[in-house]
Amino acid sequence: MGDKVIAIDGPAASGKSTVAELIADKLSVPYINTGNMYRAVTLFALDSGVDLKNNCSDAAFDELLQKLQLDYKRNASGIYEIELNGEFPGNGIRSPEVASYVSPVAALPVVRAWLSQKQRDFASLGMIVMEGRDIGTVIFPESKFKFFLTATPEARARRRLGQDGENFDGATLESVAAAIAERDRIDSTREVAPLKPAGDAEIVDTTDMTIDEVVDYITGRILNNDSSRNDLPGAVC
Ligand code: DC
Repeated sequence: MGDKVIAIDGPAASGKSTVAELIADKLSVPYINTGNMYRAVTLFALDSGVDLKNNCSDAAFDELLQKLQLDYKRNASGIYEIELNGEFPGNGIRSPEVASYVSPVAALPVVRAWLSQKQRDFASLGMIVMEGRDIGTVIFPESKFKFFLTATPEARARRRLGQDGENFDGATLESVAAAIAERDRIDSTREVAPLKPAGDAEIVDTTDMTIDEVVDYITGRILNNDSSRNDLPGAVC
């Protein structure tokens, strides 16, 4: 079933969220941002009083996850949005505190196993765009459409500084680039599902591309590469 999933992976601030959302919009299919799921788990832990600085461990999450109801639901505009224990957390998941703890939380096997199962369940929605770090390698290795977006660290820091919703009070290009590099380091060296392109993923370097160029390129690859997708809106038969 997961062969219908369009997997968009890549490091932080490679442009994948914006691109993935626009591709989903163009193809009229749901968009699932799995980074938001890791962020929501982190927010829930912080709100529950877990001392993530000193106790970021599987043991700290074992019981906690049993109290967490995490879902993706359509909001009032019909767009899939993350729901945490019955409420949309909105920008709470993009706070600097969540950003600083989410990588170690995402490295915990208990958290990854819990979220991986939820992510696989989305295959029942049919064709979807799912964005993250391990969608093409671990969650849906059977996907026929795998893209891994990259960009230079400088380009990514510039994009991150300009990104709506993420709060970077007093940050400089250098400090943001350093934070991104640190998050990449943790994500790509962790033991479970490290950040890396799937062997059969197409690597797209977006450094010198506009968002529209990336969206058009990937959408074109999807529509042209699979004639069974002629039922999709915008498909050229
Ligand atoms: O995409 P993002 O920056 O919102 O992701 C937040 C964190 O979650 C980041 O440290 C990488 C991690 N993540 C992950 O390990 N696996 C995913 N499928 C998605 C995100």
